[in-house]
Amino acid sequence: MQTLQVELAERSYPIYIGAGLLAQAGLFEPHIAGRQVAIITNETVAPLYLQSLLTTLAGHDVTSVILPDGEAFKTWETLQLIFDGLLTARHDRRTTVIALGGGVIGDMAGFAAACYQRGVDFIQVPTTLLSQVDSSVGGKTGINHPLGKNMVGAFYQPKAVIIDISSLNTLPVRELSAGLAEVIKYGLICDEPFLGWLELNMAGLRSLDQALLAEAVARSCAAKAYVVGQDERESGLRATLNLGHTFGHAIETHMGYGVWLHGEAVSAGTVMALEMSCRLGWITAAERDRSVRLLLQAGLPVVPPEEMTPDDFLEHMAVDKKVLDGRLRLVLLKGLGAAVVTSEFPREILDATLRADYRALVNQLSD
Ligand code: NAD
Ligand code: GLY
Repeated sequence: MQTLQVELAERSYPIYIGAGLLAQAGLFEPHIAGRQVAIITNETVAPLYLQSLLTTLAGHDVTSVILPDGEAFKTWETLQLIFDGLLTARHDRRTTVIALGGGVIGDMAGFAAACYQRGVDFIQVPTTLLSQVDSSVGGKTGINHPLGKNMVGAFYQPKAVIIDISSLNTLPVRELSAGLAEVIKYGLICDEPFLGWLELNMAGLRSLDQALLAEAVARSCAAKAYVVGQDERESGLRATLNLGHTFGHAIETHMGYGVWLHGEAVSAGTVMALEMSCRLGWITAAERDRSVRLLLQAGLPVVPPEEMTPDDFLEHMAVDKKVLDGRLRLVLLKGLGAAVVTSEFPREILDATLRADYRALVNQLSD
């Protein structure tokens, strides 16, 4: 097992990474203050892992709240089901909420923990690759609004993140690829050598080699923990973690939540950010193409939805959380491993990026 630490003074917490951790009561106990525990999970994850976690937590007074599954349920209405469960079972302020599932469950359970009786403890137990490498670390919690992704929420840090790599064995292939989009993101924004490692080991990762997955998760979490430790509330550096997300959130919102997986939309959005960085002369065409090849190697979509027009993108991007004083800021690359957050780009380069022929870009890769 590896242990990392998110350094946030009195809100610091450990990230445990290893196989079989769901069964290790000794990892959970130091982070559970009282007798009561509420496990928030969904109808897909519950049959796979709930019983195992209940066994680990034997001795506690546990309520399980099983939510419907999917991004389309990351809403006020579903949040209310969590509060219903907590109040019906009379959970008090010393209760500990445990999020057992992917990023949708983690974001919603964390937000519920932030709000319930003005804040109770919570623990993240992420079970998708995406949630293990990204959403469970850093305390961003919340829900979607029909007009924008993750528009309602709170910064609220967990007491611990317990990552059981074995849970990835049951993950659908498409979800594994979606998680790899966020893994590749770390290489692109701040760790160029990691891209080389991923190129070498992509086949092993996709065939669920546990040691390789543990290494990819640890390396990703180390990058995320560092960034969050420097800039918890995203006043600067943390925004670089959103490479591809401004374009990607537009895809998710426009297509309808859940139609494109978050990681898939981030992948196509990353290609748009690469293309724009290339048009600005900040990365070379060879660097752009190398990055697109890696996303393809991970089994990810790299062409934005053909039905989306430049105006569709602009409309959704106007409500991005990185818009400040009406100015759109984008995460772009000034070299592989060197992300910047900037509003300093000519409008015509953005327009050209939105109009670019991404299918032709992919076709020339194989030439
Ligand atoms: P998800 O939570 O929808 O999980 C994907 C699917 O896998 C779901 O059907 C889920 O039930 C299923 N599943 C989960 N674990 C499984 C397992 N071990 N075996 C089989 N099936 C399993 O999606 P996700 O990709 O984990 O997370 C995406 C969400 O995370 C989005 O809402 C996104 O906005 C959010 N997110 C948040 C942050 C953050 O910093 N808070 C960062 C990135 C993404
Ligand atoms: N996933 C982006 C962040 O946590 O800031």
